Amino acid sequence: MNSFKYFSTFAASILKKSFKMRKYSYFYIMPLLCLLACNSQPTKFRIGVSQCSEDIWRDKLNSELRMAAYAHEGVDLLFASADDSDERQVQQIDSFLDVGIDLLVVAPNQVGTISPAIDRAYDRGVPVIVYERKTDSRNFTAYMGADNRLMGRQMGEFVCTRMKNRARVLEVMGLKGSSPAIERHQGFAEALGQHSDMVLVGSLQGDWTENSGYEAVKNYEGDLSNIDVVFGQNDRMALGARKAFIERLGSDERVKSGRTLFCGIDGLTGEQGGIALVRDSILEASYIYPTHGDEVLDLALAILEGKDYPAETPLQGALVTRQNANVLLLQAKETDRQTQQVDRLHALADNYVTRLNQQRLLTLLAFGVVVLLLVAIVLFYLYYRGRVGLQRERVLNNLWNIEQNLGANRAREDVSAKPSVGEVTPVSESGQSAPSGQEDETESSEFSDASATAFISRFREFVESRMTDSELSIEDLASDMNLSRVQLYRKVKGITGSSPVELLRTARLNRGYQLLLTTDKTVSEVAYAVGFSAPAYFTKCFKDEFGMVPGDVRK
Ligand code: FRU
Repeated sequence: MNSFKYFSTFAASILKKSFKMRKYSYFYIMPLLCLLACNSQPTKFRIGVSQCSEDIWRDKLNSELRMAAYAHEGVDLLFASADDSDERQVQQIDSFLDVGIDLLVVAPNQVGTISPAIDRAYDRGVPVIVYERKTDSRNFTAYMGADNRLMGRQMGEFVCTRMKNRARVLEVMGLKGSSPAIERHQGFAEALGQHSDMVLVGSLQGDWTENSGYEAVKNYEGDLSNIDVVFGQNDRMALGARKAFIERLGSDERVKSGRTLFCGIDGLTGEQGGIALVRDSILEASYIYPTHGDEVLDLALAILEGKDYPAETPLQGALVTRQNANVLLLQAKETDRQTQQVDRLHALADNYVTRLNQQRLLTLLAFGVVVLLLVAIVLFYLYYRGRVGLQRERVLNNLWNIEQNLGANRAREDVSAKPSVGEVTPVSESGQSAPSGQEDETESSEFSDASATAFISRFREFVESRMTDSELSIEDLASDMNLSRVQLYRKVKGITGSSPVELLRTARLNRGYQLLLTTDKTVSEVAYAVGFSAPAYFTKCFKDEFGMVPGDVRK
């Protein structure tokens, strides 16, 4: 639905632009857009993923989500990272809602600050999965995440055991107001509280970044030289704290000799991750903070497809120590290899589908062009046939035209009832004008319709029998009909509206047209055959009469 909305808005804006450019661009833009629409995969579900931060842990989660989406057709993921800003995260969630999402996955930066945006999503009927960090909003559909309190407790217990229940411990906490910071602290303090000689000398404030761990220790007002363990609530802050520690003590001797140990949480794979840091003895321990992007997507789809789903899904973590770091890394490498393989396969499939779509588009376009060409050819053919047919009809209906003229002239004369006067000099065969002012003097009113038709029929017979003679003059025709040239002119003009010369020329041209249609004679032969002494003059008259040159008749 949404993708259709996007597509139509997109299409409308293109059409608007192209319409301004050229009125008829509809004809090519529209089919193109339709073809593109046919080739694009329809979106079934659009899922907005609102991340509070941007770091390697979030990257891992996002790429797991992407990988999981490969397995489902029509799932669109929209990602946004608020970069640890409450304000930005609220805005990003609101713009997801404006764009239109079917489900929201959100890791709230702090417990209370994002709740209004979460409420808005929920109120609009968008299901919400709160992921990994908690919210004080009650308006969400499901929660998925690890037990941070348990994690803190297990880390505390590890530290107690490692230090034989006697140590001075400094904690660097994550972002104030974020649920993992609160819960990890609670669990950690609980574990330490079990042993009277385990002293939590301070809980410094960080914000999950490496720099915040560094700054917290750098600005710590207490003595660092008697700190046995530093617990950074994540590996990045533990690393930052370690740097500040070495800097402030002026030597890495205490750290390197293991008199101060550093522990963190996240336990990411890869050379920058917590597991490698433990393997390399930079950290004493870490804790795998599970991401499980594939499970997040499964939960989202279960909700969207109306299936049963758990309201709460706990994710399982695990302690990372020097004992298991190597094995974990080995396993992670194997998984990474498989993941890369799947990624490569997906890229290949993507390429293939893109090429296939391009080919389909090209084939359809080629087909469209062929169809358009065929239509153009057929239209041209029909137009041409129509034109030739029209001319032919004109030729065959010539007599009828004369009779029409006869009727029209009669009507005209009835209205004016003006008697014809004076003598006229007829227009000559060569097309020169007769003396002016005399042509209109006709004597058609002397005839009844029947005698006029009979007169014209006779005249036609003489014309048709003698038209081949290029020497034929109007005087000849007049004397054939026992009339003077002037009498003939007046009668013919009066009845038909045309002069004898014009009728003779029309008759010659009509005969020429028929000869061109029905014989193989050349244009010159035809011209001579119908009494034209000059083929060029025949061609000129022909063009005036029929709107085409004689050669066109043959085409
Ligand atoms: C990643 C992260 C992790 C930490 C978690 C707490 O953004 O900072 O390092 O364990 O968030 O929510």
